[in-house]
Amino acid sequence: MTVTHSATAVLSRYLPAIEAAIDQVLPAAGELTVMLRYHFGWCDATGQPSRARSGKRVRPVLVLLAAEAAGGSGEGALPAAVAVELLHNFSLIHDDIQDRSQERRGRPTVWAIWGEAQAINAGNALHVLAYRALARLAVPPERWAAAFDRFTATALRLCQGQYLDLAYEQRATISRDDYLTMIAGKTAALIGLALELGVISASDDRALWEQYRRIGEELGCAFQVWDDLLGIWGDPIRTGKPVGEDIANHKKTLPIAYAFEQARGDDRTILSAAFQPGPPDPRLVPQVLAVLDRLGARAFTEQLAHDTIERALHALAQVPGAPGPRADLATVAHYLVGRDH
Ligand code: IPE
Ligand code: IPE
Ligand code: MG
Ligand code: MG
Repeated sequence: MTVTHSATAVLSRYLPAIEAAIDQVLPAAGELTVMLRYHFGWCDATGQPSRARSGKRVRPVLVLLAAEAAGGSGEGALPAAVAVELLHNFSLIHDDIQDRSQERRGRPTVWAIWGEAQAINAGNALHVLAYRALARLAVPPERWAAAFDRFTATALRLCQGQYLDLAYEQRATISRDDYLTMIAGKTAALIGLALELGVISASDDRALWEQYRRIGEELGCAFQVWDDLLGIWGDPIRTGKPVGEDIANHKKTLPIAYAFEQARGDDRTILSAAFQPGPPDPRLVPQVLAVLDRLGARAFTEQLAHDTIERALHALAQVPGAPGPRADLATVAHYLVGRDH
């Protein structure tokens, strides 16, 4: 019988092992480590232990579940799970500089406390440590080489996606295809990698690696679409990020790309004024929100996220996999588009 659990139960089952494994890879002491431990939510800015909110650890859990679905053990995949989570957090520390974001997970960002230059160092450290973690993946040499290859290719795709995300800030508008290309790089590639590395840690079956990676990429697209929604309509207390920041920063999120497609007349004039290249004007945010409301952008975004998850779930039901972990993967997939943070 397949037992299903709530997403929170699935995520928290793996949390202690993941936290301990991340901790093991970080340098034991030093000022730089304080920045890293602060970012992970384990201490305050002075290095005193604190119980701040940590990340959801969705990606490492996906690695472990994919490994179990492919017949391996979560424990064997732990180095890959840590590597993925470190790469993710490297990207977040740099992303907060790039997006000029002052808050993440309900606390000041690393750069807001230590300055941009030191935050670059912290991000770089996590990037390097991600490779150190991956080096500990104990699989036969051929599979290790594949894991390394996929890992570097994904890190590059992430940078390319982030490049587009920033380049689009300077564009008056983008198409939905432009948007999908951007999120495929900045977000979906890494979630695809999470599932693929899980399977690589467990199996020689290259076709299976690929199948799980594609499912992960689909999940990643839905995840980013939902993140766009939270960035506009989320409760900042829950998301831990200021609301309205994406619009003020001229981010071409899905609701905005959709609104540009749909808007006519006055609505179009408002959007063009609010998103014209140049210094952002936060005073225009309420007007943009009103346009999004009139055009039904939220309902459209929700629908696209749900449709994308449904496609992923359909594909998941077709691939070989142990029933229990596969059911848990489906539970986490649902959570990705219902979450409030
Ligand atoms: C935030 O990712 C960045 C995106 C790709 C949308 P998460 O929402 O997974 O961040 P944490 O690690 O849980 O804070
Ligand atoms: C998500 O960035 C992708 C990466 C960090 C690579 P965003 O800028 O869209 O996400 P948040 O809202 O800051 O977490
Ligand atoms: Mg950001
Ligand atoms: Mg960003």
